[in-house]
Amino acid sequence: MSIWSPSSWQNKPILQQPTYQNKAELDRVLAELKHYPPLVFAGEARSLKNQLANVANGEAFLLQGGDCAESFSEFHADNIRDTFKALMQMAVVMTYAGGLPVVKVGRLGGQFAKPRSSNTETIDGVELDSYRGDIINGVEFTKEARVPDPERMIKAYNQASATQNLLRAFASGGLADLHQVHKWTLDFAHQGEVSKKYEALAQEIGKSLTFMEACGITSKTYRTLRETDFFTSHEALLLPYEEAFTRKDSITDEWYDTSAHMLWIGDRTRQLDGAHVEFLRGVKNPIGVKAGPTMDPEDLVKLCNTLNPENEAGRLNVIVRMGAGKVGDGLPPLIKAVEREGLKVVWSCDPMHGNTIKSSNNYKTRPVDAILTEMKEFFQVHKAEGTFGGGVHLEMTGKNVTECIGGSFTVTEEDLSSRYHTHCDPRLNADQSLELAFLIADSLKEAKR
Ligand code: PEP
Ligand code: CO
Repeated sequence: MSIWSPSSWQNKPILQQPTYQNKAELDRVLAELKHYPPLVFAGEARSLKNQLANVANGEAFLLQGGDCAESFSEFHADNIRDTFKALMQMAVVMTYAGGLPVVKVGRLGGQFAKPRSSNTETIDGVELDSYRGDIINGVEFTKEARVPDPERMIKAYNQASATQNLLRAFASGGLADLHQVHKWTLDFAHQGEVSKKYEALAQEIGKSLTFMEACGITSKTYRTLRETDFFTSHEALLLPYEEAFTRKDSITDEWYDTSAHMLWIGDRTRQLDGAHVEFLRGVKNPIGVKAGPTMDPEDLVKLCNTLNPENEAGRLNVIVRMGAGKVGDGLPPLIKAVEREGLKVVWSCDPMHGNTIKSSNNYKTRPVDAILTEMKEFFQVHKAEGTFGGGVHLEMTGKNVTECIGGSFTVTEEDLSSRYHTHCDPRLNADQSLELAFLIADSLKEAKR
């Protein structure tokens, strides 16, 4: 294989990139970003890799979730806090009811660039370049907004930096203390069955904590009761930006993409000879690759060998996103090929991207039923193959949005217009996410048995 460098991707064919009109301006911004402090440290990325190795070995579960696309306009401390709380609720449900430690990875603190199915968008006969995420251009349907602006990368960096700073504070400053388990309930949470189930579980945890305290195990004495590890991730799509944050770790002399702990390659940019695979093969972070219904088993084997040549457990996460009803046919050949070659991967399920539909009133939405079904199918296939379905990858938020239809507090097509805030794909709200967490916990319990 040819020699890798942070810029070797530039010699490969690349998809899903903006065309910047002012090259000098782009170069100026990239030169500036190269001097900016890293957002994460190599040692943290290694720590995540170790935790993901436990997932690969069936001893932990990966929970990855957050916005489809972070946006400048939705940037608010409360949004970050609520997504953090929703993830903590889900994690505690899976840990307590499912019986496995949960590795928590936010899809935030840098999730700004979006691959699009079409280069242009037409509304009422007017055709404009597609929106590609706030790090590239603006969502407003005007010619000016859709022009890619390099300066947006600096704004995205600053937002990612503030977001990651707040997440670190939440993770180690008290909010993640297990004694706060009741406080993770979101203000609007409905008093429905899922909330009641959560309340009951929180009560039980409270009792266990009181017992442990009597035995001398308290938040003061045990860091794991007081703090959590919370990691960040995003799709490594906009490669000039990712290259600017690719730095050599002074301890190991290895390259890390310091824009997030974990990076992944999307289903549209996973070509073996393409720029995105070239870029990520050379950084040492844990990485993911999406696998949709068109993933060929032999291509997956080649991707594993290219992206994880040393077959390290915890390095590579295959994020399966087939769509409900397609997992039974699509997933077994992938698992069989990976098993045949003895490749170590973390298998996770993205039950979002194969289940997007248009509602009759023209909203891009996802039925919660289809999401739950795909998740169940994923676990069933792994059970049948004797492998470990080790994670979930979600587009979700702690906010009370109405973007996905269904769920125990049924969001109807008519409700979609009420709180539809996403800049790109529809997200599960906190109730819907919690419902899914209970389903996962049940499956984990069963898998353990
Ligand atoms: C995404 O995760 O937002 C995404 C675009 O997914 P995929 O690459 O699986 O389509
Ligand atoms: Co999406």
